[in-house]
Amino acid sequence: MTERTTAEEPRLKKSVIVISFISLALVYSVMLIGVFLSSGPITENGIVCTGWPLCPNGFGAPEERYLVEYIHRVVAVTTAGFAYATAIIVPSKIKRAKTAAIIAAIIVSWQLGLGFITVTTHLHPIAVAGHLSTGISVFAFALLTFLWVGIWRKHWR
Ligand code: HEM
Repeated sequence: MTERTTAEEPRLKKSVIVISFISLALVYSVMLIGVFLSSGPITENGIVCTGWPLCPNGFGAPEERYLVEYIHRVVAVTTAGFAYATAIIVPSKIKRAKTAAIIAAIIVSWQLGLGFITVTTHLHPIAVAGHLSTGISVFAFALLTFLWVGIWRKHWR
């Protein structure tokens, strides 16, 4: 078993599990907010904040009509930060978890880019379809990371 450790190796830190779980929970949350946004609670087509990266009112307090989109962007950037942190702190000895975390970090970067394309193309169907499917892929790899880290800690150390 290549991923097994020896008795001298330190136990996997709880912070690795906690941070990978926070990443997973954040991806779930940003997806939830995104679906709420696309259901058009504020406008018919679900988009009013057409600026990038900020809404037209800049760093000012988000106006009510921009609020959901604003929250979606802020949570998305926070999610990306946690995805990068997870990719860094998962030890290389847990190969599968490390690989999944790196893939999640790469896809989340692409997802931020797709967010930009979704906004600037005013919800082009291909951009929207790509944004949704990529979001699901980020979730899948964040879940795999969390599961493999948890399984590894329970069974090997
Ligand atoms: C971790 C990053 C992100 C994830 C996981 C994510 C996920 C999602 C999901 C699942 C939806 C719903 C899609 C649908 O129901 O068709 C959505 C909608 C949307 N997202 Fe994101 N998103 C992320 C980042 C961003 C960023 C950075 C932007 C840029 C501004 C953005 C802009 C939008 C817009 C405008 C919609 C509404 C699309 C529509 O009305 O159909 N997203 N997002």
